[in-house]
Amino acid sequence: MINVTKTFLPPSEEYNEYLKKIWETHWVTNQGQLCEKLENDLKEFLGVKNLLLVSNGTIALQLAIKALDLKGEIITTPYSYAATVNSIIWENCRPVFCDIEDKTFCINPEKIEELITEKTSAILPTHVYGFPCDTDRIKKTADKNGLKVIYDGAHAFGVKLNDSSVFNHGDISTISFHATKLFHTIEGGAVITEDDKLAEKLFLYRAFGHLDDDYYSIGINARTSEFNAAMGLCNLPRVPGFISERKKINILYKNFLKDLPLVFPVIPDDIFYNYSYFPVFFRSEKEMISVKEILFENGINARRYFYPSLNRLPFINGPECPASEKSASCVLCLPVFNGMDEKIIETVSEIISRTIKS
Ligand SMILES: Cc1ncc(COP(=O)(O)O)c(C=O)c1O
Repeated sequence: MINVTKTFLPPSEEYNEYLKKIWETHWVTNQGQLCEKLENDLKEFLGVKNLLLVSNGTIALQLAIKALDLKGEIITTPYSYAATVNSIIWENCRPVFCDIEDKTFCINPEKIEELITEKTSAILPTHVYGFPCDTDRIKKTADKNGLKVIYDGAHAFGVKLNDSSVFNHGDISTISFHATKLFHTIEGGAVITEDDKLAEKLFLYRAFGHLDDDYYSIGINARTSEFNAAMGLCNLPRVPGFISERKKINILYKNFLKDLPLVFPVIPDDIFYNYSYFPVFFRSEKEMISVKEILFENGINARRYFYPSLNRLPFINGPECPASEKSASCVLCLPVFNGMDEKIIETVSEIISRTIKS
């Protein structure tokens, strides 16, 4: 089966070099030298001030909500993965959905203000598929209303706005380094902030709130291990190559599919994009489902990212979000991964073409 993504694994000898270091020191977790190195390398690569590795992208969101002491209502996007809204609810806040805009599929900045109440404490949008939210307008709305901003940047590794990391926006940005992501540490994630005091707080929250025998605050276990960091150290130097390769895949798909009645997100001119996903929007849910089924019969597992629109999750009684619901009903993400054979792109495109013309 060809899946929507395939985890990149570096040559085993390269990973083994790091394993040797772990075996020499017997230091397997608790912020060892490999975690330290990866944190420093990531800060340099991304051009961000404070970055803390954590065990996954969901706990990164939870730590961010906790560190900003958010209460009450958080305005968020319905078009994202369930982790975005789950972390809000898990931290005892109430998600308030703001519909998305058509072009980027990110939260519609024009609709945020009307949702603000005296209970609102923050805005938590997602840079979905790695497309940056309208960070300027969101900042203006947040500043005017005294709100915090957390960006869920799970898909946005390496994305730049005006030559600077997209993670340099908001009070805190979070990332996922899950094995399905462009850059991965098997499981993992990070929290990023420009605010040194907030970084200190996150540092304590990540590991039980204490340093040796001195206890400062509440905390949880959100640490990552040396084994995960080793995978990250192998993968990080390859990221520029990963992005160029994915860009080629994106161009090839668009060429093959250009004459079909499909919608592709428009990549804004003023960003450096990471080509992490290849979402395609069909004319209807029915058409999308028939394509998905025929792809599956041919050994190709395209995925409904992102479905359902989060306001429609069974445990959420959300208001209607027509733009998000429409997108979620007819989207399919086609396979994109490093080392992908061009023939897969051709086969997938042929099946789509055949199915929607029939
Ligand atoms: C938008 C978004 N946020 C958060 C997460 C959670 O990340 P993790 O799986 O590392 O917990 C994901 C995972 O895919 C995601 O897509």
